Amino acid sequence: MKDQFDLVVVGHVDHGKSTVIGRLLADTGSLPDGKLEQVRAECARSAKPFEYAFLLDALKAEQSQGITIDTARSFFKSQKRHYIIIDAPGHIEFLKNMVTGAARAEGAILVIDAKEGVKENSRRHGYMLSLLGIKQVVVAVNKMDLAEYSQEVFDRIEDEYRAFLKKVGIVPAAVVPLAAFHGENLVTKSAKMPWYTGLSLLDQMDQFRKEAKAEFQDLRLPVQDVYKFTEEGDDRRIIAGRVETGYLKVGDEVSFFPSLKKAKIKTLEEFNRDSPESFGPGKSCGFTLEPEIYVRPGELMAKNGETAPKVGTRFKVNIFWMGRTPFQKGRKYKIKLHTAESPVWLEEIRSVLDASDLVAGKKDRVDQYEVGECVLEAYRPLAFDLSHDLAGTGRFVIVDGFEIAGGGIILEDLGSDQIQLQEHLKLREKLWDRSKIARERRERRLGHGSAFVLLTGPTGSPLGDLGRALEERLFEKGRSSYFLGAANAGLGLGADLGTQFSSGATEDRSEQVRRIGEVAHLFTDAGNLFITAIPELEPREVEILIALASPAPVYVIQWEKESLVEGVFTLDAGDTLEQKAEGVEKFLANQKHFVEWEI
Ligand code: GTP
Ligand code: MG
Repeated sequence: MKDQFDLVVVGHVDHGKSTVIGRLLADTGSLPDGKLEQVRAECARSAKPFEYAFLLDALKAEQSQGITIDTARSFFKSQKRHYIIIDAPGHIEFLKNMVTGAARAEGAILVIDAKEGVKENSRRHGYMLSLLGIKQVVVAVNKMDLAEYSQEVFDRIEDEYRAFLKKVGIVPAAVVPLAAFHGENLVTKSAKMPWYTGLSLLDQMDQFRKEAKAEFQDLRLPVQDVYKFTEEGDDRRIIAGRVETGYLKVGDEVSFFPSLKKAKIKTLEEFNRDSPESFGPGKSCGFTLEPEIYVRPGELMAKNGETAPKVGTRFKVNIFWMGRTPFQKGRKYKIKLHTAESPVWLEEIRSVLDASDLVAGKKDRVDQYEVGECVLEAYRPLAFDLSHDLAGTGRFVIVDGFEIAGGGIILEDLGSDQIQLQEHLKLREKLWDRSKIARERRERRLGHGSAFVLLTGPTGSPLGDLGRALEERLFEKGRSSYFLGAANAGLGLGADLGTQFSSGATEDRSEQVRRIGEVAHLFTDAGNLFITAIPELEPREVEILIALASPAPVYVIQWEKESLVEGVFTLDAGDTLEQKAEGVEKFLANQKHFVEWEI
């Protein structure tokens, strides 16, 4: 079996990236029979000059009819190995492919036009390769025919570009003079450039080592999806994802991060096939767990006994910004890191660098094509690795609005302080317009303590019915209880956000949670028993609600099982709704806070 190698082709616009790929496909005999002739004939018919880029377009059109083939990639083989090659026409496509895991690159070809020389994007792309940890790079000085195959032109470009790459920490494996369109030095050595003593581009690529995968052996598998089958007799819950590194097999004891849930691999599943022995790096796979715990897309699975990924909300990063609107403090963005997503804020900028001239400055924002060393704070904890340990789970993209506007790598784990939230609470404490009637005085008048009762459970569970039943029971006992339903909250407080609670860690959801926390603070400050229901609460959200409602005590009540928060009161599945409400009431009455009030 030949091994498989993933390559990306980058470089300034029009310098010949697609031509390099198209001609590599043609000259290694990797094209479907007659394809080249067909595209040439079509060009001749329409009196258009033939381009290798057309060949790629024609293949794309063909491949996209199948469902499994990613259209950004081409496949070819040398004597030594199979190549998957990604055409990266611009920064955004490049970063998107690299960071979202649509593609992985173990090596890169950086194309520079001999006539145009080194351009800003040649430098920016060089910087991005370094940022993304792609260390195996070959530089192709293309279109040498337009420079009369001159050694002098080549040497000048080589010197200039090597000097730049050195500054970003890349030593290219080679710099190859090339005329991709004419096939000179592409697959075989060219007779037109006898002064060049190195290898052809393809032979040079064959020299790349498959090292990346050997370095980090421990299992990392970002959860992509969870499928639940409800067909008769089949109630398996299959977890799907792609193995980033390491191996998994039946019986492995695994943990999920950040939830810290543990289970054992029960079965390995492959679509329409018998279960394999094990799954290894790069493999998209499915599996079931014993016990069938509830995990979510975005969690990172690792094997017990191997190194664990880091979990945190704050990290130091290097970010390459591509958005036209600068990256700045005070605005909310979204981070995508392997399969996880979270709202994120820019907390601090430590330094800023122009990616094409590497001039550093100190600023309060990161402008387009600049690189910033920054501290980010995510709304909820994310599982990750430092990028120098493992590139795949240590790099991310930042989404501004609906567009990917930046990408980068995690340099340092700064723990989980909730800086934004703590600052807000401090400010609230300081500026709060205090009533003459303290909470305790109100509580004495009402005859009971105030509290925040938070109901949660899977989407679809009748949390609202439970909330109303509980509210009424407490009310009938003479307590000042108030239930705020999700729809009611949505109609007024969150009219700009929609009436339903958003699922997943969206920006809307984090804002909805924040507002409910503030309302809980108001109601409990007024001495009430405030009850609300939020489906699918996560531990981080509970933390935020507790912080916002403070100093009122918060009691989390979980609908039957299957909640993401633990260590709270769980309702009995066998009970009716009224019995459940009674159960909650008893639970509350037994809490120290209420016992003190002797309700
Ligand atoms: P974008 O995808 O638009 O960024 O361009 P690209 O980098 O993929 O360049 P592409 O391969 O489309 O080539 C751009 C132009 O340069 C085309 O007209 C090619 O035919 C031409 N070209 C590519 N390689 C060579 C070469 O070796 N010699 C000459 N003379 N022209 C070339
Ligand atoms: Mg192209």
